[in-house]
Amino acid sequence: MELKISLVATPPLLALAEVLVLGIPSGAALKKALAPLTKELGSQLTKALKRSEFAGKKGELCDVPVHGTSAKATRIALVGLGDAASLEGPELRRLGARASRFARSLNATTVAVATVGIELEGAERLLAEGIVLGAYRFEKYRTGDRVSKFPLGKALVVTTRRVDAALKQQVADGQRVADAICLARDLINLAPNDLYPEALADYAQKVCTDRKEAGLSCTVLKHAELKKRGMNLIDAVGRGSRRSPVLIHMKYRPPGSKKEALPKLAFVGKGITFDTGGICIKPAPGMEEMKGDMGGAANVVAFMAALAVTQPRAEIHGIIAAAENMPDGEAYRPGDIFTSYQGKTVEIINTDAEGRLVLADALHYAVEQGVEMILDNATLTGACVVALGPTVSGYFSNRSDLAARVGAAAGRAGEAMWHMPLVEDLRDMLKSDWADLKHVGDRWGGSITAALFLREFVGETPWVHVDIAGPSMANKVYDVYAKGGTGHGVLTYLQLVDDFVQNSASKPAAVG
Ligand code: BES
Ligand code: MN
Ligand code: ZN
Repeated sequence: MELKISLVATPPLLALAEVLVLGIPSGAALKKALAPLTKELGSQLTKALKRSEFAGKKGELCDVPVHGTSAKATRIALVGLGDAASLEGPELRRLGARASRFARSLNATTVAVATVGIELEGAERLLAEGIVLGAYRFEKYRTGDRVSKFPLGKALVVTTRRVDAALKQQVADGQRVADAICLARDLINLAPNDLYPEALADYAQKVCTDRKEAGLSCTVLKHAELKKRGMNLIDAVGRGSRRSPVLIHMKYRPPGSKKEALPKLAFVGKGITFDTGGICIKPAPGMEEMKGDMGGAANVVAFMAALAVTQPRAEIHGIIAAAENMPDGEAYRPGDIFTSYQGKTVEIINTDAEGRLVLADALHYAVEQGVEMILDNATLTGACVVALGPTVSGYFSNRSDLAARVGAAAGRAGEAMWHMPLVEDLRDMLKSDWADLKHVGDRWGGSITAALFLREFVGETPWVHVDIAGPSMANKVYDVYAKGGTGHGVLTYLQLVDDFVQNSASKPAAVG
């Protein structure tokens, strides 16, 4: 069932939903927020507050039974938002996600969400995004009893503002952006027998044709075309599979902007639809998780779909290198040397370091588009997960100002990303006796040498590499993320686009 989100301007306790979730600030604002609720809910609220020691701090939840009160809901939860003065958007997204999860845990099919005693510009949209992200479940492969019997069907966003067309549009946009992120999750969660490179290309193509009027288009370079163009690294990684590799090129330009000079950006994704490790095969335990090795590609598809909603004044290229890394008589092997699309020769060291190879060719293709910035994102190294843990991605950049902009964008998006250094001393690890480059260094600094390898293919173009190996998939629900594919990164990239658009708008127009 499709989730329907509506805006209502009623007092929260009068919202018509089975479950009501209220965001409550901590500190001095706590009392003020609770006062009107205590008036209506009386001793049931005071008792529940005492029992749970609820203080409105971030992450706290107080479950209030509300039988016999004037509340319309059968169950109310108070969720802590923390200090009112430092409340930021991402916390409201988390509140929305908390609300839909709480409702689902009770088998409720309707939920209402409100904040009490606290207001933030854009809250309605953020709540809608959170509701969708929290309600997400992947049930494609479930049958019979294992299918949810009580999916969330209706959510109310309670506002104190006037419900006009503009506000409704914001909520609808929020829902569509979150739907796009859920598409990334779906692609990651799909079984690798169903999602192979050409299948991924079909999804990308469909996303673009469905949003043609919003400015999206897509071309796919099939295997023969890749070989003809000399994208030998993508070919090398893909040759061990019965499923051919492809390069997917999605493009967004705001409708009717043909003659306009717009900032031009590229977002690149690693699309390894399954990573066995190839001839350097991975150990069996946990190998099934490598169906998510196209998380970067999934993010690019989702991000492009979201651009159709946000409609930025920019030209944006979404580029995906998709291949399946398999062992086979035709597979590439350690010691092989290939000429990259860019021209440098690369000696293969470990066939399990396949991501940087497909990205190298995709990055050069992005450079050829003449963009002013390239961001690539990839489930690239276990080393990055060792360094930062499973919930934080690491980003690298060849420009310090760009790194700062990515850090700020991640902060606004509420996504955990940490700036990592391109340690120049480690570049020596990529020297090869036989080719221009080895594609793997030794063990230490594994995520850094991977980034240094990628840097070889971006020339002078300002570039960011985001290693999402940890947070692209989750083994439990947290923040706004679901178990399995998360779509971590997409919100940050959307923020970064906003930053580029604003920056170019504030620049004086070129003369002549
Ligand atoms: N896809 C993996 C990286 C990965 C690991 C992603 C864990 C998500 C979770 C990548 O292709 C890989 O195998 N990397 C190797 C590189 C090594 C052979 C230099 C790794 O990290 O061990
Ligand atoms: Mn690998
Ligand atoms: Zn991989």
